[in-house]
Amino acid sequence: MAVPSTLRAYGCEQRSEPAQLTQKEAKAASVPSTFRAYQYEKFGSPDCELRLRESVPTSRLEATQLRIKVHSAALNPADQKIMQDFGLAITGRQPSAEAPFGMGFDVAGTVVETGDNVTQFKEGDAVYAMAPFSSFGTFAEYVAIEEQFVALKPENVTFEEAASVPYTALTSYQALFEHASLKEGERVLILGGSTATGSVAVQLARAMGAFVIATAIGCQDYLLVESLGANQVIDVSRQKWANVVDAHSVDVMYDCGVERKAWNYDAQAALKKDSGRYVTINPMMQPRAAKFGAKCIGEIMVHPSAEQLRELSSFIESGALKPVVDSVYSFERLLPALEKLKTKKARGKVVLRAAY
Ligand SMILES: NC(=O)c1ccc[n+]([C@@H]2O[C@H](COP(=O)([O-])OP(=O)(O)OC[C@H]3O[C@@H](n4cnc5c(N)ncnc54)[C@H](OP(=O)(O)O)[C@@H]3O)[C@@H](O)[C@H]2O)c1
Repeated sequence: MAVPSTLRAYGCEQRSEPAQLTQKEAKAASVPSTFRAYQYEKFGSPDCELRLRESVPTSRLEATQLRIKVHSAALNPADQKIMQDFGLAITGRQPSAEAPFGMGFDVAGTVVETGDNVTQFKEGDAVYAMAPFSSFGTFAEYVAIEEQFVALKPENVTFEEAASVPYTALTSYQALFEHASLKEGERVLILGGSTATGSVAVQLARAMGAFVIATAIGCQDYLLVESLGANQVIDVSRQKWANVVDAHSVDVMYDCGVERKAWNYDAQAALKKDSGRYVTINPMMQPRAAKFGAKCIGEIMVHPSAEQLRELSSFIESGALKPVVDSVYSFERLLPALEKLKTKKARGKVVLRAAY
């Protein structure tokens, strides 16, 4: 299947299978010739199709790639959605026995090998990254990844915390700043402030000097979102946010994928008439034209970026962005970890630890 140009922009173009490392080359590069990795040969449920392969051959690095020994890798809803729902649409490929799919986008670990043209990293560097849609698969002991997606791990967080950051933080960073152009002093309403993406969005928006209103469901969520620095938290299990937020008082509304009807119903009445912007990360119910003039940016899709990761690192190092980790699972317990994520009761990120 041809890959649409929009997907190509997100790094989804097909890649040819990389050559495998010979045992001699592996020894010279001090990496094993095989490693363990989660893979699947067919789309379907993780229970049925996901396998922990014991001896996946190590591929030869491309000149611009580096090899990371994975310490930790975080889970995202996309991992299962790609496997079960929209993998073909996102990647333009089908997994097979010859070319199985890996799973996982987020990674933190140590550089163990660098390609000939890698300039910014050396063996031993502690790094973190979001893998691109063309070659994800961080639920593994080793991962080869393009230098352009990798940043040094902030020194003040653990590998588990660092792994929890890239996918969700890049999503919220891009939604708020790249797409909605949130500015200092503006008022932002974050729908789903206690989700993984929402938890980051609250902190980033505060760090940028915005006035942050965020929704939560129930007392525990309320306390979490409040602790992240929101100026105003609305518990939507007790009251509708639309009854609390003043008409046409919000500059930016960011739906963290929890209210697909919001734009058509209440958002336009809360957004500023001519300058309000609305952005979401899940498909919207068929969006109607703006009644008041606010701009519907619509659904955005995250893309990996080392440059933006470096900016996120500076927020982490200054203490403005604190990773929120719900739980850490050992490498062999990916299935229970995926189950935990599916309950939608995780508050913060679920992390898989590959090395000790
Ligand atoms: N477009 C993109 O690039 C992109 C990037 C990242 C994530 N996403 C999508 O965005 C959604 C959220 O991702 P995430 O990583 O933040 O998810 P998450 O924290 O792992 O789980 C969030 C889910 O828990 C429920 N939930 C938790 N707190 C809530 C609250 N305060 N208000 C309402 N519902 C709440 C919602 O499920 P229910 O609504 O089913 O109850 C929500 O979808 C997912 O659907 C994910 O696939 C898209």
